Amino acid sequence: MRIQLTVNGTERTADDVWEGESLLYVLRERLGLPGSKNACEQGECGSCTVYMDDVPVCSCLVAAGQARGREVRTVEGLAANTADGAELDPVQQAFVEAGAVQCGFCTPGLIVQTHALLAGRQDVPSDPEIREALAGNLCRCTGYEKILDAVRLAASRQEART
Ligand code: FES
Ligand code: FES
Repeated sequence: MRIQLTVNGTERTADDVWEGESLLYVLRERLGLPGSKNACEQGECGSCTVYMDDVPVCSCLVAAGQARGREVRTVEGLAANTADGAELDPVQQAFVEAGAVQCGFCTPGLIVQTHALLAGRQDVPSDPEIREALAGNLCRCTGYEKILDAVRLAASRQEART
């Protein structure tokens, strides 16, 4: 079947999609967007998290057909395209600066989920709030402390700008 959807602001089409195919597979294998990672394919790890109509979802659990006509935003779509190339989103920048990226497999999902946590906020979330928001995103490398540092850094910069 043919799927048409908007990905990172651009209308995209995928052909020959089979009925059991996931949105994650379409993004990675058909649309050339490998940022969203496939770690468990069972909704357990959050590494495949993307926005669908502004709501974070595990794209491995979304059937490609369910994404037809929807707006999808991936980790690639958070960076702004400038004349000089891509400019990282503040959440992406904070993850880099805080040293929250080791193997990087969990990072795209954590960044999308953190982006959603901070959207529209003008304060720094408490640690329990951050932990709850990121509870569905598993990381095997960092022990989570650097990830919390990154979220606090992004939130404090956002607070300072408002
Ligand atoms: S790959 Fe989707 S939740 Fe793990
Ligand atoms: S940095 Fe390796 S799983 Fe999180």
